[in-house]
Amino acid sequence: MELPRDTHHERLPVSSSETPSTNGTAQIGVTGLAVMGSNLARNFAHHGYTVALHNRTTAKTDALLEAHGSEGSFVRSETIPEFLAALEKPRRVIIMVKAGDPTDAVIEELADAMEEGDIIIDGGNSLYTDTIRREKAIRERGLHYVGAGISGGEEGALNGPSIMPGGPAESYESLGPLLEEISAHVDGVPCCTHIGPDGSGHFVKMVHNGIEYSDMQLIGEAYQLLRDGLGKSAPEIADIFAEWNEGDLDSYLIEITAEVLKQIDKKTGKPLVDVILDEAEQKGTGRWTVKSALDLGVPVTGIAEAVFARALSGSVAQRKATTGLASGELGEHPTDEARFIDDVSKALYASKIIAYAQGFNQIQAGSNEYDWDITLGDMATIWRGGCIIRAKFLNRIKEAYDEDPQLATLIAAPYFRDAVEAGIDSWRRVVVTATQLGIPIPGFASALSYYDALRTERLPAALTQGLRDFFGAHTYGRIDADHDAKFHTQWSGDRSESPA
Ligand code: 6PG
Repeated sequence: MELPRDTHHERLPVSSSETPSTNGTAQIGVTGLAVMGSNLARNFAHHGYTVALHNRTTAKTDALLEAHGSEGSFVRSETIPEFLAALEKPRRVIIMVKAGDPTDAVIEELADAMEEGDIIIDGGNSLYTDTIRREKAIRERGLHYVGAGISGGEEGALNGPSIMPGGPAESYESLGPLLEEISAHVDGVPCCTHIGPDGSGHFVKMVHNGIEYSDMQLIGEAYQLLRDGLGKSAPEIADIFAEWNEGDLDSYLIEITAEVLKQIDKKTGKPLVDVILDEAEQKGTGRWTVKSALDLGVPVTGIAEAVFARALSGSVAQRKATTGLASGELGEHPTDEARFIDDVSKALYASKIIAYAQGFNQIQAGSNEYDWDITLGDMATIWRGGCIIRAKFLNRIKEAYDEDPQLATLIAAPYFRDAVEAGIDSWRRVVVTATQLGIPIPGFASALSYYDALRTERLPAALTQGLRDFFGAHTYGRIDADHDAKFHTQWSGDRSESPA
């Protein structure tokens, strides 16, 4: 399934599929031409590929051709048979429609008309268990199914996203070169790699989104600390974030935080952030990440706090009923402004390290559970550019996994261990100050607790085990016995212990 590398840069005129000469000319097809699909199609065209276009209603296809038809070589189609006829074989079709039932409907229609070896690529935010199911069903029909996570929003889709394709390794041979070419590149390295079999690509994209939630929650808490702790205005905080973006925190989300905070609302003359309703919405990928983490038994406390913080912000009735309730005696606001700002930046960095460490642990656990054999360092590599969580420190994550692919947690890698140690005093001061001022910081506080719990030698889990054995004879292990040996105390009898 070699790509016609010599010919794909040839530009073909925009034409109707009724023109027989366009049959079999397109190297890639995109169905679902909302903004993400359109931009992805244009990105392929910008790289010299001939792109077959299809949408349920032709109005979108025509609008795309009208506005951007001159940017490259597109083949218009009205029906699925026309669309498939436009493609060279084996056909590669990217579906960019809503996750869930609409995706299933398009897959069915395509699969019915496709031929052995053709590849269906789902580029939406599909639930990875759906992708596992679909890949199996499509494989049984002799076709290839690739669930590909694509990150970077509209801009990324157009100019270079981070792409996380799963599915059969064989499909990647045919598809990989195209996807790598249109992906973002950092230091000449594409932000796209084959993640692993079946649902692995969508799983990794889901965890990416979970980390995105966590990162955004931590940024929000830092903003609130500067606003309510120091009384700073949004434009003042924008300047602080812009400065942070020059250092360790350098990342896309920090960069755009400065942009959003600096925006002035035309209608009121106030900072836009001060007139935006403070109820965060979600499409669900963060929630999926937490649900999956619960099943895998991986503590992703940062992501969970972020998902719940959004839910809390939207709990209108509860917030209305409790606004203004007693705060208790509050502490003093920080007097050394520069020191507090520095503390917040260090607390943010340390908490962010925890969030990524937890996300990478979840990817490892998913990989173990489903036999995906995911290389964690590669995930850091392809997230360095194009995606929403792109950040300078992903280079450090890649280095950490390159040095020790079996790393139990990022927090134990020398660079991150030192980084947390350098910020730990600041981190504690911020959590204490926020608590004394009554400023909610679920992300910062839970990240610190997670860190403290991990480094604590004896956890109260011993007592939990004792209680479980007391009321339910659930047994416990002993520090002086084999790790897997279990014991039970006769709590309601003579309280002697026996092996279980
Ligand atoms: C990306 C984003 C993208 C989308 C999120 C938003 O990687 O490009 O993550 O997938 O913006 O799904 O998610 P919420 O609406 O749930 O915040």
